[in-house]
Amino acid sequence: MASAPREHWSSRTGFVLAAIGSAVGLGNMWRFSYLAAENGGAAFVVLYLTITLAVGIPVLLAELVIGRGSQQSPIRALAHFGGRAWKPLGGVFVAAGFLILSYYSVIAGWTVRYALIALGEGFGQDVAEHFSEVAVGWDAFGYHVAFMAITVFVVAGGIRGGIERTALVLMPTLFAIVVGLALYAATLQGAGPGYAYYLSVDLEKLLHWSVLKDAAGQAFFSLSLGMGAMLTFASYLKRDEHLPNSSLVIGFADVAVAFVAGLVVFPLIFALGLEERIVGSKLGTVGALFITLPQAFAEMGAIGRGVGSLFFVALVVGALTSAISLLEVVVSSAIDGLGWPRRRAALVAGGAITLLGAPSAWNTDVLGLVDQIANNFFLLGGGLGLALFVGWIMRDPIAEAAGGTEGIGWFPLWRWLLRLAVPAFLIFVLAYAVPETWEAARNLFADLLGRSA
Ligand code: PHE
Repeated sequence: MASAPREHWSSRTGFVLAAIGSAVGLGNMWRFSYLAAENGGAAFVVLYLTITLAVGIPVLLAELVIGRGSQQSPIRALAHFGGRAWKPLGGVFVAAGFLILSYYSVIAGWTVRYALIALGEGFGQDVAEHFSEVAVGWDAFGYHVAFMAITVFVVAGGIRGGIERTALVLMPTLFAIVVGLALYAATLQGAGPGYAYYLSVDLEKLLHWSVLKDAAGQAFFSLSLGMGAMLTFASYLKRDEHLPNSSLVIGFADVAVAFVAGLVVFPLIFALGLEERIVGSKLGTVGALFITLPQAFAEMGAIGRGVGSLFFVALVVGALTSAISLLEVVVSSAIDGLGWPRRRAALVAGGAITLLGAPSAWNTDVLGLVDQIANNFFLLGGGLGLALFVGWIMRDPIAEAAGGTEGIGWFPLWRWLLRLAVPAFLIFVLAYAVPETWEAARNLFADLLGRSA
């Protein structure tokens, strides 16, 4: 197939910001704070940091190496280095892109709606009841469609004109907002117990397997690993990019935003005395962000309007730059594999994903289950595939990684991590996570069937 020459990022900053944009998203603010709250505060944070460094960064570098080296979208990139037998793994990545974006965009739709409320009339006292209304049904679907439309629009604009330009404007804005909010939260009276809760170590909670699984899943989700998103972005890089440096910068920025987001959420909630609502909330995941925080903003009066608007705008921004990378995995595969023009690929893929999101828009239990399946099967499993691929199949990944550098001392360590430690760790976590997800799926189906019978 004779196609146009491959597009490239116009600058190093453009690529790095787009990749950070992919990493920083709802995962940093929505999932991270709730998981930290549930899993023993700082103890969880330390575990998550360790996994990010020892497992996440090596897999991230593996993705960047495959992408830049092949200059192709995931399915073809794996075939390029490993032969046709590896195409199915690329197919799994594309499927993961479909699946994750389908529910991610529903949550993103909630954040758009909340941002508009915050900017408009402001939050009332009845937010909790409000949430159950906006979270499901036609309303939720409508905002999901709108969010998908924006995502399709950016991706259709191409690497430089759409994705890079968006990241260059939006990412610095997001950093400024999050840091500003954390500074503001520090001035609140009664913020202290919030920090104490967030930053104190609860070793007892750390001793459960499910914490390890949550921390591993979170490290992969938050770094956008295990489904070819980083691989795809790296396929638009030129040869002179310093990949080890980029992987460290991306990893550091991702962790930093998650950590600072915690410095916003916990002090705010404790300063307003709303802590028992997150700690004991059944709504878990969603609870802290979509119910408790708006309540906090409502109680803060005029200042709450401003702070609430900034907070939800930052969430929308984070969600958008992540959604873009999810859609790009599917779109680049359709461009390379089917020879479609970019616009058509973006429209068709975006349309299909929008429809696939309908069940999540109508049922938050379905949404939660798809989130679990995506993480526990797809991302951790995909990460395992990638580690084995670069560790054992690729002929000379170290030479490939060394392009653009002057040689790096820890490359052999990197390869051995990918060969042994990372696969062993992921198999261990999967052995725990897969049966648990299977259980959850069976229960939900039994529940849904029972309800309709
Ligand atoms: N990393 C994104 C977030 O934290 C989610 C994501 C996962 C994006 C996988 C792309 C691929 O919100």
